[in-house]
Amino acid sequence: MKLLNIALDGPAAAGKSTIAKLLAAKLSMIYVDTGAMYRAITYKYLQQNKPEDFEHLIKTTDLSLTYDEVKGQRVILDNQDVTDYLRENDVTNNVSYVASKEAVRTFAVKKQQELSAKKGIVMDGRDIGTVVLPDADLKVYMIASVEERAIRRQKDNEERGIDSKVDQLKQEIADRDHYDMNRKISPLKKADDAITVDTTGKSIENVIEEILTLVHSIA
Ligand code: C5P
Repeated sequence: MKLLNIALDGPAAAGKSTIAKLLAAKLSMIYVDTGAMYRAITYKYLQQNKPEDFEHLIKTTDLSLTYDEVKGQRVILDNQDVTDYLRENDVTNNVSYVASKEAVRTFAVKKQQELSAKKGIVMDGRDIGTVVLPDADLKVYMIASVEERAIRRQKDNEERGIDSKVDQLKQEIADRDHYDMNRKISPLKKADDAITVDTTGKSIENVIEEILTLVHSIA
């Protein structure tokens, strides 16, 4: 099979990372979780008590991704592995704001484009098909009902020992989507040439099968 780049975009908690990870493993490709980059910058923003000078924040930021055979993608921020902090509520509730800033996006997009230059990447995010990899070999826009996304997120939280309520998660997910879809720079939207995959009511295996069929149709 020729080397491909696959772009996987969609709203919050639509199952992108679960699917992208499995897909990358099946296809012997590398999975890049771009949300983790925005989360790492948000972590730093919170550590520094929310400075408004994002140019400065970025200028003093060293961010890289490494890959661990067992743990997968790790995010190294200013020489520290911050991966385990990136799903904390405080980071989740501030990340859309930080990700709307031009200096932050320019910095992250450049790194993402460097990572995908050699191909063989499955990259998930909000603007991969529209901005980061406009020439991706396959673009998937993954959606699911808010209800189902909230239930899935609650299960994830439960597994990590975090107590959460479906109604509150529904609200948080809907708010984050609204912010991501309405920001000025690179808002979340389906690329014209992306294929929509609705995962509502489907098992992970079904979604993987559906996307693998798309991959094989182009490879
Ligand atoms: O995918 P994840 O939920 O980790 O993304 C966190 C946030 O990072 C999103 O809600 C969005 O604000 C931002 N993001 C983005 N562009 C990307 C990936 C994530 O703006 N490519």
